[in-house]
This record gives sequence, C-alpha cells and structure tokens, in this order.
Amino acid sequence: MRTHTCNDLILKDVNKKVILCGWVNGVREHGGISFINLRDRYGITQVVFKEKVELKEESVVQIKGKVVKRPKGIVNKKIPTGEIEVVCEELNVLNESDNLPIDMSGQVESTEDTRLKYRYLDLRKDLSNVQARHKANMAVHEFLDKQGFLHVETPLLIRSTPEGARDFIVPSRIHKGNVYSLPQSPQLYKQISMVAGVDKYYQVAKCLRDEDLRQDRQPEFTQIDIEMSFVEQDDIIKLSEGLIKHVFEKVNGVKLKTPFRKMTYCDAMSNYGIDRPDLRFDMKLTDVTETVKGSGFKVFEAECVKALVAPREFSRKECDKLTDFVKLYEAKGLVYLRMDKTLEGPVAKFLSDDVKKVLIKQTKIKKGETLFIIADNNNICNDALAHLRLQLGKELELIDETKLEFVWITEFPLFEKDEDRWKPMHHIFSMPISMDFSNPGLVTGYLHDLVLNGTELGGGSIRIHKKDIQEKVLEVIGMNYKQAENAFGFLLNSFRFGAPPHGGIAFGFDRIVAMLCNTTDIREVIAFPKNKQMQSPMDQCPSLPDKDFLKELGIKIN
Ligand code: AMO
Ligand code: AMP
Repeated sequence: MRTHTCNDLILKDVNKKVILCGWVNGVREHGGISFINLRDRYGITQVVFKEKVELKEESVVQIKGKVVKRPKGIVNKKIPTGEIEVVCEELNVLNESDNLPIDMSGQVESTEDTRLKYRYLDLRKDLSNVQARHKANMAVHEFLDKQGFLHVETPLLIRSTPEGARDFIVPSRIHKGNVYSLPQSPQLYKQISMVAGVDKYYQVAKCLRDEDLRQDRQPEFTQIDIEMSFVEQDDIIKLSEGLIKHVFEKVNGVKLKTPFRKMTYCDAMSNYGIDRPDLRFDMKLTDVTETVKGSGFKVFEAECVKALVAPREFSRKECDKLTDFVKLYEAKGLVYLRMDKTLEGPVAKFLSDDVKKVLIKQTKIKKGETLFIIADNNNICNDALAHLRLQLGKELELIDETKLEFVWITEFPLFEKDEDRWKPMHHIFSMPISMDFSNPGLVTGYLHDLVLNGTELGGGSIRIHKKDIQEKVLEVIGMNYKQAENAFGFLLNSFRFGAPPHGGIAFGFDRIVAMLCNTTDIREVIAFPKNKQMQSPMDQCPSLPDKDFLKELGIKIN
C-alpha cells in the first residue's frame, strides 16, 4: 500500500513517484492550496494539495504523488524529510476519523483518565517511550544471551510468592473453592530453576502485586529477573553493572562508568536517613543526639536527634512551612538555627556556648546557612529528615538533573520489626552474613539494592540453599517449618535433592525505562497502564463478572 514511510523521503528522492500512508495531522490552507502533515510511527512528511481539501484530523489516508523540493523559506531542518514535500496526485481516504476527544497537537493537556481512555490516540501522538522500551528490552535479551543466560518462562497461575505485598488471586473452576495466585515475582520458580541446573536464568517477567499505587508503582509491572548458580554477591553485582551499562548505552548512547559506588545500609541510613539515597547532591545528616543531650530543651531528650545544614537562610514563614512538611512524616516539629557569629534562633537559648561550638564543628555549618534539627525515635528522625533533604534539594535547586548517580546498597538487615513481630526485610530466602541470631535486629544479609538518583531500580540477594539455615530464619519470623512447608514446601523440597549455592536480582524494568525516558512516572513508559484507582479507563476493568460465570466458579458476592 505504500512505497515509503513518512520519515524516508529526502532531497535525492525529488521527482520520484511515491505512495505514502498515514494519519492526517495539522491541516492548513493558504490561498487555495492545502497542506497536511502526514504522520506515521516513523515520522512526518508534508503533503501539498493543489486545491482546497476537506480532511478531518487523524483520518487515515493514502497519498499518491510526486516528491518535490521545498521552496527555500519553508525548509524544516528539524525533521529528516524537511527539505521535500509530496505533491498529491491521488488522495484515498482509508478511514475518516470522528471528532477527537483529545488535542493531538500537544498544546492542551488532557486529564489522566481521558488520556488513558483514549490511550491509542495518546500513544499515536508520541511513540518515543514505546520505542525506547522496545530498545531496552532488546538490549537486555542481547546482553544476557551473550553471557549465556537462558530465558525461562515461569507460570502465571501459581501457589503464592511471599514478596510482602498482597496476592491477586484467580478462582479455580475445576477445584471449586481453591485459588491460584498471580506471581508477585518469579522468585520461587527461579530458585527451583537453579536446582534444575539452569545455572544462569533470566526472564523479562510480569509481576502482579495488589498494593497501593505511587508514581513508581503499578499493580502489574515488569521485572528483569535474574538468578545464577555458584556465585558470590560480587558476581551478581558485576553482571548487573554490565547489563545496566549495556542498556543505557544501547538506548541513550550514554557511557556509564562502572563499578558503581557501594554503600552499606547502615551508612545510607546514618548519612541520608533512607536506604535509597539520591546522591546527586550532598547535604548529609549528622547525628547530634549526644551533643544536645542534657541541654535543658526537653525535646532533645529523644532516642535520636539528627540535623542537616541547608546552604542559605530561611524566613520564619519558610521555616513554618517546612515544619508542616516534616509533620507529614510524623515529626513533632522542626528546630531551625541560623548561623551568624554563632547559632541563633528560638531554641538557641537552650544551648550553651560549648554545645553550640560542638554543633558547629560537627555539622560544619557556615555563616548564612541554616541548621534543621529533628528529635524523635530513629525511624521518624530518619524518615522526616530524608524527605526534608529531598524537598530542600528540589526547592534550592541543588539537584543536578543531568547526573546519573548509581549506588549499590549492601548489608541490609535481614529482619525488621513490624509492631511486635520480626518480619523479613526483603524475603525469607536471603542468606544471613553471620549465623548469630541472638538479636535478630542485628543480623545482616547478603542483600543488594541498586539505586539510581534516589529510586530503587532493583534488588536481590544470595539465597539460603540449606534447610538448617532456612529453619533458623523461619523461626525468627515465627513460622515453623511445617507452616513454611505448607506455603512453599515445593521449594524446600527441591532443596533436598542437590540445591547449588545461588543468588540473583530483579530490576524494575518500568523504572529503568522511565529513567531512560527522563520521567519519574512509570505509567508514561507502560503502553496500557492502570490509573491511580487501579482501573483501566479504556477497557473499564475491573468490572462486574457475569453471574453465570460466578456460579460456575462457585463464588457468591455479597
Ligand atoms: P523486589 O520486590 O525488590 O524484589 O522487586 C524488584 C524490583 O522491582 C521493582 N518493583 C516495582 N516496579 C513497579 N511497580 C511495582 N509495584 C514494583 N514493585 C517492585 C523495583 C524493585 O527494585 N524476587 C525479588 C528479587 C530477588 O530477590 O531476586 C523481588 O521481586 O524496581
Ligand atoms: P515548642 O516548645 O513545642 O513550641 O517547640 C519549640 C520548637 O521546637 C518549634 O520550632 C518546634 O517545631 C520544635 N520542636 C518541637 N518538637 C520537636 C521535635 N520532636 N523535633 C524537632 N523540633 C521540635
């Protein structure tokens, strides 16, 4: 139906007879002559009609015509076809479009739901993210194939994966009352593939998690899932760096420097208050708990008192706003001290000259800067200050948007307290570094997260491949081997027959592509994402199921 795409024709094609197909975009008329931009996935070609034509925007047309050189004044250097135009000799309207529900020129923003309802129009406007995602996908396969990895597809109807979110479930028609779970990740299957001798497994895998959505979270998302046998943590890290480097170079032509930085969980929490620090700017936190203890200001008699220095002065009003901001993260308040000859501000009267001196030395604050302090328990202190740091980084424009700051976070605790119980920080299959479990809070594991500019791109660990260690871990979280066997006995069972030492990692593919496309919203790089309410406005799911269908499944809905 066509001889060329809308991005092909250049000066050397002048005088050729061509056939183009595409969508009508931007109809203009000048003195009885009409112009359109004819658009397809590849680009745009200007078409000229010697008479006035009535064409509705986004109609699909076929144009037969002749390539001519554009007059000098209207050459468009920005597009490859900008030096020519096609003079139409025959126009075939293949499909006329209705009036459009969204603006295709990119000048008027539509609401998210309108964009998602008419996602095909939204995408037709700009397919660059879809193309970048494809390139990234190809680069992943290319790299891992070269490294000897096997792409193994694992099932979508499974028992359950203990990744920590809620499962989506699928009722069984044949086994009434029973359900399948949709995988939160292929974790158990990839470990079993190691027992099967696959040695190097990977999968570009769909994962499904019923959790609250954020800009970087969708209920279904894609992982680059990797598992390797006979490896140590550094092998996984090195392989991952090679992969990320390859993908960034293939998609964006960026040459990343490896190895990436490494930081222990402990250092990340102490310096940045968070396990995914944005290292595009400095502004570290300082622990001043001991310094201000006994100062007479009651607030400072807390489990943790931490401070950060912002590189300018703030008005009272600004400080009040920042106080409200940290309260969103459960801080009870925010102390602010301005640095002049010494520290000044409403709370300064509680601090002796000696204490001020130590604070100045510890935080390296300089004249004209501001010291912000929060006192609370460790978690609130860290969380509120980590958010304050980011907020100030943005507000004061301290973040260099051109930077790509990768960092590996390692030596995570294996367990975290959830109310009174210990629960796994990652999942229960990660290998502890030491076997002393007397204080579970102090047990660290061979875990590794890759963070880029404050976003967690991926995470994984060296796994437990022995029953006795697995039992010890289960004991801490209050699960006995019997319960574990019930939940994922098939994995533990497989370990009885020669499980190799193994480990792996999974990357959030959507997040990587979002980074490559310079956006923080992963919905922008998912062809058909869900909205914030976890619905798809296009096909209107979730929807009420058919009554007969439910009956067949043996399900009653109240
Ligand atoms: P984890 O749960 O850390 O690990 O997930 C790995 C990576 O997947 C991405 N991710 C998400 N992306 C979009 N939407 C979501 N809802 C979402 N949840 C997670 C993140 C994250 O770093 N089986 C383990 C991996 C392993 O141990 O090998 C796992 O799934 O970028
Ligand atoms: P108050 O004595 O409650 O008026 O507080 C005096 C100052 O201390 C105000 O600037 C409060 O925001 C601040 N403040 C109160 N509680 C805390 C806290 N836990 N951590 C940091 N600052 C606090």
